[in-house]
Amino acid sequence: MRLSAFAVKNSKHIQQMTVGIIGSGAMGTGIAQVAAMAGHPVVIYDSNEAALARAQKNLSGTLQKLQEKGKITSADELMARFSFANNIVQFSNCGLIIEAIVENLEVKKAVFAEVELAVSADCILASNTSSLSITSIAAACKKPERVVGLHFFNPPPLMALVEVIPAIQTEVGLVTQCKDLMSKWGKMPVIAKDTPGFIVNRIARPFYGEALRIYEEGIADMATIDWAMTTIGGFKMGPFALMDYIGHDVNYVVTETVFQSFFFDPRYKPSFSQKRLLEACWLGRKTGRGFYNYAEGAAMPEPTRDEQLAKTIFDRILAMLINEAVDALHLNVASAADIETAMTRGVNYPKGLLAWCDEWGAANCLEKLDALYNEYHEDRYRASSLLRKSAIANKKFV
Ligand code: NAI
Repeated sequence: MRLSAFAVKNSKHIQQMTVGIIGSGAMGTGIAQVAAMAGHPVVIYDSNEAALARAQKNLSGTLQKLQEKGKITSADELMARFSFANNIVQFSNCGLIIEAIVENLEVKKAVFAEVELAVSADCILASNTSSLSITSIAAACKKPERVVGLHFFNPPPLMALVEVIPAIQTEVGLVTQCKDLMSKWGKMPVIAKDTPGFIVNRIARPFYGEALRIYEEGIADMATIDWAMTTIGGFKMGPFALMDYIGHDVNYVVTETVFQSFFFDPRYKPSFSQKRLLEACWLGRKTGRGFYNYAEGAAMPEPTRDEQLAKTIFDRILAMLINEAVDALHLNVASAADIETAMTRGVNYPKGLLAWCDEWGAANCLEKLDALYNEYHEDRYRASSLLRKSAIANKKFV
């Protein structure tokens, strides 16, 4: 494999390398904290001065708390690693820039083109985008081979997973070097092909989409679906509670982007029930109202504790999730091991979906999908050809 010509050259160099962060919101601040805790000087830039001041205050508060809990020895020492910039000229010494600004392709492209002029020739440029094409972002640069996706999960200091996404232009050696760097930061990096939703945001879609479909058809109410997935499935949160937690402005928009980016594949079709919540600005927990009502004193609906119904719901959603994981493997989006790591460490699934398929048996999973396909005659329920082949060959995935 060719070695990268870019900044991450050897361990001594890595330790001293200054990391630049663009965007001081939730993700930018969290990634900055991770980089500083790994020993790097960090420059944080935001076009909004108030946001930058807020980030400084938040970081200082977080580090004080970590010191009180004995997790770090000196908050002041760590805080001294940060500098807060209102001009990208201050990125001139950086070896790596990670962009975490608004999720808008045109804005990101403009920022990458501008930042490239301010950094050294060997500086790596990374984007934390959750749904945009890294290849398109790279195309805005004079040296697109230095651009890569580094997709962290929220909150970055607590979530181990980082998806490393090469654009089609990215220099081959850079991927391995970014992966090594993320491991040095204490993260669990996986490599994902530059396709919509990468690994996690693609494979997790049926957790929301199929739950919404079951709800819209009136097969069960939200509380019952959530109860089925937590009680029988062992998921930490049910789909409706989780969508409310993520926020419909984020979760719905990711679904819509993935759907459009997959040339309107019905597997990823968004739901009107969720779209209406967004239109009403009932964004979930953060606005006090989403699928559930979070107002003080409001009662949470009780599930129908019908185990047979719960099993039907769980089987249907899990079959769709497994199909998505198997199809991602089939299309070389990632390796089997990386798919398992991504779903257990990025969204805390109780088990890897490929291991779950092995446990269930590919033939059993296929039978459930074919039954749905025969019932609905919708392309949404088509089984991956790899699942079909594995069922016939009685093959295991992990
Ligand atoms: P945020 O809204 O909390 O922060 C974005 C920050 O970027 C704001 O402080 C804003 O002032 C700044 N900004 C906007 N345009 C700018 C520009 N042109 N130049 C410099 N600064 C600019 O957003 P958040 O949630 O931190 O997301 C940032 C990125 O990370 C997005 O691409 C998002 O898709 C991605 N992401 C978000 C996750 C989440 O759970 N929030 C998870 C993983 C990725």
